[in-house]
Amino acid sequence: METQLHSVDPLHPDPTTIDSAAAIIRAGGLVAFPTETVYGLGANAMDGSALGRIYAAKQRPSTDPIIAHIADASQLKRLACDIPPIAHDLAQAFWPGPLTLVLKRAPDVPDAIAEGLNTVAVRMPAHPIAVALLRAAGTPIGAPSANTFTRPSATRAEHVMQDLGGRVDMILDGGDASIGLESTVLDLSGTEPVILRPGGVLLEELQRFIPGLTVAARYLDESTHSNAPGQMLKHYSPHAELRLYSGGSKDRRLAAMSAAAYHALEEGLLVGALVAEEDESAFPEGTLHVPLGSDGDTGAIGKRLFAAMRELDAAEVELIIVGDFGREALGSALWDRLLRAAEGRVIQIAEPDGQD
Ligand code: TXA
Ligand code: MG
Repeated sequence: METQLHSVDPLHPDPTTIDSAAAIIRAGGLVAFPTETVYGLGANAMDGSALGRIYAAKQRPSTDPIIAHIADASQLKRLACDIPPIAHDLAQAFWPGPLTLVLKRAPDVPDAIAEGLNTVAVRMPAHPIAVALLRAAGTPIGAPSANTFTRPSATRAEHVMQDLGGRVDMILDGGDASIGLESTVLDLSGTEPVILRPGGVLLEELQRFIPGLTVAARYLDESTHSNAPGQMLKHYSPHAELRLYSGGSKDRRLAAMSAAAYHALEEGLLVGALVAEEDESAFPEGTLHVPLGSDGDTGAIGKRLFAAMRELDAAEVELIIVGDFGREALGSALWDRLLRAAEGRVIQIAEPDGQD
């Protein structure tokens, strides 16, 4: 199929373009669109065969469930049932925005949205193009991140084209996604609320509503069979091996990272580093850097992380060295994505006083 690519002004989405995208959704086709987190690969959430096309285009196993996006809180009752009062409080506080709620599923929703589960994940995005598309389509839109399975999420239309060109009917190009990391997934369907994926809405913000809330992201390798969705360790991976350094003082960590870059360069490998701007000078000449943001600015780093992984891939680096950005603000979402991109390979630096 030929993929139509349309540039859309996020502040004034052109109604004709939005209407043609909405017509594709209503007809069971696929439209990739920007959200404030990452680009989504959308299909009518109430149409099982349209959802099936998402799995095929992404080459994603059908056991990995899809988030249903809505434009209006009144659409929630079409999707979910037995909605607990806390869901309404959180929706009031954080929607539209980067929070996904996992709730008990309403009977009309096709099983393909979350095969083998009796739940549905719902989010109301804030991006004006996403909102315009949802309104024009008049139906909830199921949309995973618009990347092929296990690749870094798409934060620009060109990433969607790289991964899904020829497999999606239309891509709406609204420029860079502003957050760059996916939504926080909060499961409210069990006895205790729990965060399944840290993301754009922070744990501390949610704890104001749910004291004692914790993050229960588990990381499974491919040999571990599980019906827990979205918890495969290999996820968001660049082609290059990514080595993640954690612990120690920052100086010791940078020294170890720089030494690893030096050895790899000596072996003739192409090496990239994903580090804060002020740390680039710690690396030997020849190391490739993509500007991420300054140390501690997890918002800037989060916004550029996936694009930077893709840029280093495009430069065909063979090793990517990355350090822990801490747990402040978006730090825990960054850590989660990096741990998966590293497929669990963490190099732990000893603490300066000999403890670790
Ligand atoms: O920011 C986002 O959430 C983006 C944009 C496009 O909205 N979407 C996104 O979708 O990241 P995806 O499919 O890449 O990630 C959705 C996550 C997965 O980890 C999936 O397993 C989890 O949400 N999820 C979806 N439905 C679920 C359910 N019923 N129960 C538990 N987890 C669910
Ligand atoms: Mg994804």
